[in-house]
Amino acid sequence: MKKINFASDNYAGVHPEVMQAILAANEGPAVAYGGDAITEAAIHQFKQHLGADAEVFFVLNGTGANVSAICAMAHSYEAVICAEKAHIQVDECGAAEKIAGCKLLLVPATHGKITVEGIRTQLQRIGDQHHVQARVISISQSTEYGTVYTLDELRELAAFAKAHGLYLHMDGARLANAAASLQTDLKTIAEAAGVDVLSFGGTKNGMMMGEAVVFLNPLLAKSFLYIRKQNMQLVSKMRFISAQFQALLSNDLWLNNARHANAMAQHLAQALSEIKFIHITHPVEANAIFATMPTALIEKLQTRYHFHVWDEGLSEVRLMTSFDTCIEEIDAFVQDCVIG
Ligand SMILES: Cc1ncc(COP(=O)(O)O)c(C=O)c1O
Repeated sequence: MKKINFASDNYAGVHPEVMQAILAANEGPAVAYGGDAITEAAIHQFKQHLGADAEVFFVLNGTGANVSAICAMAHSYEAVICAEKAHIQVDECGAAEKIAGCKLLLVPATHGKITVEGIRTQLQRIGDQHHVQARVISISQSTEYGTVYTLDELRELAAFAKAHGLYLHMDGARLANAAASLQTDLKTIAEAAGVDVLSFGGTKNGMMMGEAVVFLNPLLAKSFLYIRKQNMQLVSKMRFISAQFQALLSNDLWLNNARHANAMAQHLAQALSEIKFIHITHPVEANAIFATMPTALIEKLQTRYHFHVWDEGLSEVRLMTSFDTCIEEIDAFVQDCVIG
């Protein structure tokens, strides 16, 4: 029997409208490496969402987007301040350190979010030739724990970054889910956070593959054509990534997909919170749910469902919804939890 997916929005397939766009882009030859009309149109759509001055570059994957963004913001003697469990720290195999050569300075996070107080502790020995120089704050929106920075929280981080000459990078692998959660648009979030460089996710929100690195601080984009190539993120048949973004950014598909995933997460969280031996460990604000449950139940559920055991010691699991999660799958999961 095929297992039902609550493991990741990466397990989800490709949204039919995105697949259709890939097929439609497959009409004869087109200029390679982004010189084609589809890429131009997709970049234009990004500018409509994020401002006419935004500089947009398509890349292959989220790790490539994050690391390349860091390369554009920091020298190897500079450092990136991020949450102790940020994707760039725990799930990118040290790529930032290897490729950008930058040290990551870790800050404790509550429900995945870092604060000015935490960042301040890492802002040490500025101007001291013996010490790495903090240059970038990197935050994830939504966070690795499925929480979402409020606009006020973002504004506070932005003001701090500006006051201390730090750039702000946003890992927006799930920015669409954050926008849906905050009921606002992409530009409002980016402006609140004073984002210099954004990694914008497509893969988790219905695309087959592809992410965008968007510079809201155009000065930082100066060398990015070369950085992208050196980092092996320049796709020769780029039109097939651009076409996917075109589909995603048309007719609010990005928003509707994210809204759906978030709504499914709310539904699942609500049902699980009524089961007395299940405890939800982080606020559910986007499309991820973290919960503790008895180990025996986890083992039983894993025979029918894909999901990750997040912390074995705590018996904590991560359940993730996506654009194609359906209510019947959630009801079946909840029913299996109740039966135990
Ligand atoms: C917060 C976050 N950033 C970035 C990524 C992108 O990673 P990948 O390189 O697998 O596309 C992920 C994927 O899980 C993620 O969760």
